[in-house]
This record gives sequence, structure tokens and C-alpha cells, in this order.
Amino acid sequence: MHLGRTTLSKFLIQQLKNVEGANDLGALLVDVAAAVKAIAAMTAKGALGGFLGELDNRNVQGETQKKLDVLANEAVIRSCEWGGLVAGMASEELDEPHAVPSEYARGRYLLVFDPLDGSSNTDVNVSVGTIFSVLRHDATAAPATADFLQPGRTQVAAGYAIYGPATMLVLSVGTGTHGFTLDREIGNFILTHPHLLIPAQTSEFAINTSNARFWEAPVKRYVAECQDGRSGERGRDFNMRWIASMVAEVHRILMRGGVFMYPRDTKDASKPGRLRLLYEANPIAMLIEQAGGAASTGRARLLDVQPEGLHQRVPVILGSREEVERIDRYHAEFDAGTDRPFASPLFNERSLFGALA
Ligand code: F6P
Repeated sequence: MHLGRTTLSKFLIQQLKNVEGANDLGALLVDVAAAVKAIAAMTAKGALGGFLGELDNRNVQGETQKKLDVLANEAVIRSCEWGGLVAGMASEELDEPHAVPSEYARGRYLLVFDPLDGSSNTDVNVSVGTIFSVLRHDATAAPATADFLQPGRTQVAAGYAIYGPATMLVLSVGTGTHGFTLDREIGNFILTHPHLLIPAQTSEFAINTSNARFWEAPVKRYVAECQDGRSGERGRDFNMRWIASMVAEVHRILMRGGVFMYPRDTKDASKPGRLRLLYEANPIAMLIEQAGGAASTGRARLLDVQPEGLHQRVPVILGSREEVERIDRYHAEFDAGTDRPFASPLFNERSLFGALA
């Protein structure tokens, strides 16, 4: 039993006591947590639940939808639409924002979420997650798509749930990043990991190396130096992990440091990256920054990127601060043409000589 320990509700009351609109924000996060418990129950049933496998349709990203994607999406919407707390919701699984049904009151927050991140992993019983971001909507009118296009630095709360051996909720309301573990017997999230802090240095990186031939030079340079280990530029050995489930990679980084990259690549010219800005990159970037880490596109702070579309993709580099700063520097040196021998802007790949070289 966890009598006397800090539950999610108690934590929210304590953390939000000086925040305007605290009750509504706290209540909304409790509604999100209720959806997370429902999704945790579904994912934990595995093949016994009848929830595995694909549906016949595709989502707005052109990706095949899993049954669990759709069920998780429904769980979040049904849990959060009725309480008079949200003005609207946007999801990876929905082309357009979900309007609050007319029988319910509209609130002052926008909820943006990826109901089941890493869902290719559900059929193989590997950790998946739910990612969410809360933005303000102070207008009385129902939100239009443009109202969701706020840079990540305006988020009032962000978090993810990870459905692993234990279900955890990792959350920030702007006062650090904190982890809660679901106690299934009493049905409560208990604060088990207060004030997570990512070590500034790391010797562990995560990237899908099957894309190596499509990466830009700065990312190739960084990964090659890590692979060279103690005999190379970095003077120490690095370890590599790739789970193909961003929440699981980010969770590992929050627990023990590391750097995660899904950078810009040339695999598909129409996509500047794989991950979605509003409901993947931004909430995770807030959690990482609040835990002392850094989150970047390689050329800009992620939380400063001005969104242009609900489902916009963005390059993502995040984790231990010194490594992210190094990768940013490699991008800057590449863009300035100073990362190559005989450095001169004339030999930049984008210059005349660079193009001929
Ligand atoms: O769509 C998001 C996602 O599933 C992330 O959770 C994960 O990091 C990435 O895509 C995996 O991509 P890939 O299949 O290229 O390894």
C-alpha cells in the first residue's frame, strides 16, 4: 500500500497552487491519466484482448492504423471531451481537430496527443506510449486549426505514458519533470521519480542507422565519431540502442542519460524529419528541457519552432545537453563550411565549388 505517498492528484494540487486556472488544468491531467489507465489495461492484455493487428484504413499520415491506435485515440477523446476543460483536441489519428460535442461545455485548454506512439511495437510486446501536450485557448470561440499552431514554449503541460513492464506517467507542468508509477492494485499513479535530471554528458546514442546513407553530414560526423570510440576523436567508447518507440528511448534517456536522434534526412524529400512537431517533438522537448537536457532540430531549439501545420514533421535531436550542443555545433560548422579541410565558405557543399567537388 502507498498510504501517505504522493498521488498524481495530490502532486497536481501542490504544484499548481499558484497557477491561474490550476483546478481546470489539474482536472484535465487527471482525465488524461484516466485514459492512460484504460490504454494500459488494453495493451497489457496483449493477444488475449483481441486488440492486436491492423485495421483496413490509414491515418492522415498514410500509415496503416492498428486497432490499438484507434482504441487509444477513442479512450483519450472520451475521457477528456465531457468535463468542460478542453476547447478542442488534435490527435495523430485525426485529420482535423476534434470539436467538443455541443452537449458539453468548452474549456480553456487544447489537448494535442499521439494516442499510441511506437505502435508498430504492440504486436511484438515491446513498450509503447501515449504522448500529450496542453496548450491554452483563452478565446470563447471554438478553436480553429490555426489555434493549435503554437510554438512548444507555450505549452502549459506535457507528458507521456509508457506501457512497459510497469506503466508510468512522466509529466511536466513547468516545474521540473516528474515520474509516476501506476499502482494497479489501487488504480493510482504514485510519484516515484520526482525531479528527473538528465546527466549533461553521455556515452549512449539512439538513431536508426539503417537511414545512415540519407543523413546530413553533421549527423554522419557525430555518429562516426561515436562509433570510432576510444581510438577516435571522442576518446571513449559509446553504446547504441534503438527500440523504435520514441517514448521508450526518451524514458531511458530521462533515467540514465543519452542522446536520441531522428534527424532531417533525404529519404523522402517531402518530409523534413519523421516525427511530428505538435504531439511528439514538442511535449517530449518540454520534458527533456525541464529535466535539464536540450532538444533541437540541429539548427534551432525545438520549442521555438513555429508550427505551420497540425501534422508537420520536424528533425529531432534531444537528450544530454552537452551532446545535443555538440551536434548543433556540427550543423553550424557544416552550414558555415568550416567542418571540412581547407575550410572556406567557397567549399561549402552549397557553394559553387562545393557542388562541383
Ligand atoms: O512514428 C513515431 C515512431 O514510431 C517513434 O516512436 C519511433 O522513434 C520511430 O517512429 C521509429 O521509426 P523507425 O521505424 O524508422 O525506426
